[in-house]
Amino acid sequence: MTVTRGLEGVIATESSISSIIDDQLRYVGYDIDDLAENATFEEIIYLLWNKKLPNQSELDELKGAIAKEMALPQPVIDHLKSYDLKTVHPMAALRTAVSILGLFDEEADIMEQEANQRKAIRIQAKISAIISAFARIRKGLEPVQPKSDLNYAANFLYMLKGEEPKAIEVEAIDKALVLHADHELNASTFTARVCVATLSDVYSGITAAIGALKGPLHGGANERVMKMLSEIGDEDKAIDYIDEKLKNKEKIMGMGHRVYETGDPRAKHLKKMSKELTNLTGNAKWYNMSVKIEEYIKEHKGLPANVDFYSASVYHSLGIDHDLFTPIFAMSRVSGWLAHILEQYDNNRLIRPRAEYVGPMNQKYVPIEQR
Ligand SMILES: CC(C)(COP(=O)(O)OP(=O)(O)OC[C@H]1O[C@@H](n2cnc3c(N)ncnc32)[C@H](O)[C@@H]1OP(=O)(O)O)[C@@H](O)C(=O)NCCC(=O)NCCS
Repeated sequence: MTVTRGLEGVIATESSISSIIDDQLRYVGYDIDDLAENATFEEIIYLLWNKKLPNQSELDELKGAIAKEMALPQPVIDHLKSYDLKTVHPMAALRTAVSILGLFDEEADIMEQEANQRKAIRIQAKISAIISAFARIRKGLEPVQPKSDLNYAANFLYMLKGEEPKAIEVEAIDKALVLHADHELNASTFTARVCVATLSDVYSGITAAIGALKGPLHGGANERVMKMLSEIGDEDKAIDYIDEKLKNKEKIMGMGHRVYETGDPRAKHLKKMSKELTNLTGNAKWYNMSVKIEEYIKEHKGLPANVDFYSASVYHSLGIDHDLFTPIFAMSRVSGWLAHILEQYDNNRLIRPRAEYVGPMNQKYVPIEQR
């Protein structure tokens, strides 16, 4: 037996959803650069779930179905109101609320393909409502009902802020959602597949995936990038701060990647958005500071910026609370998780690797009073 720590380089499944080849990300064969410039998030959802881009009527149907499913069951809202949200991380609340959603879905344990597709729409729709309801309830505000004529990105911002967002805000969130939607067999997607490969239900798979995304080595990095930038506070202090971190062998959030060697193709799109939005909101220092850090880490550690690095200053410029950055990642990545769950069910085999045992052997049971 050879142990591959962190399963690095291990090919654990076949998939036709997304690929990373020669440092380029593609969804169903479409280059992420092409999609980032041209596609909407709803088109991406359709693409990931159906392995083809929708025509207009297919897209309209999907948008209608999502809009219809966006409102939350009252018990989920009551649940969010029932505890002190000020002490709870939104990713923990999201994980629990998605699990609770499953209790109110009569089809939760029906494993037929069509029922699973209906659940996918429900979960995709409701996850944005959970995040925005959480954000409002903790500020003492009432949740806002979605509007059926808004797209996914606009509805999220509307439910979050209670007013119709500006076009540039919708565009930024929509593009961020496109860029985060799927990423081959990343940690949370693998978690979802492992969970449902036991033939557990979709809600369990998504709940498990949210738990995996929460960690700072995965989706949790974007919130910590903004924490770092805020701690630095001033462009001139950036390099000293980074040097100190590196000296203490601490990781710089938003830097490095398990798979990409030359760079994360998603980062440049977020970098461009960060430049535009920070300039527009008079906050150019966050962008300038980020560029300094990116260049320094590239030069001194050979590590590229990943998707989380510039998304931090993008979301900050949109006035979004920092601890909602990772839930927004989840709101997008859930489309990929659902695609992978459906693909896993279609050709399932239990995922059960081995461990090399390195503990003691030949031990004899000793009665408790003799220990
Ligand atoms: C993404 C990540 C988890 C990949 O991890 P990995 O493939 O397991 O790589 P390792 O953590 O083993 O790192 C390999 C080496 O690079 C260094 N390194 C990796 N990422 C680093 C970072 N962000 N800052 C400083 N050093 C880093 C490690 O310290 C290690 O150095 P060493 O060999 O001298 O000990 C890692 O780069 C990381 O922790 N990045 C910060 C968190 C982040 O942004 N996550 C979001 C990913 S999209």
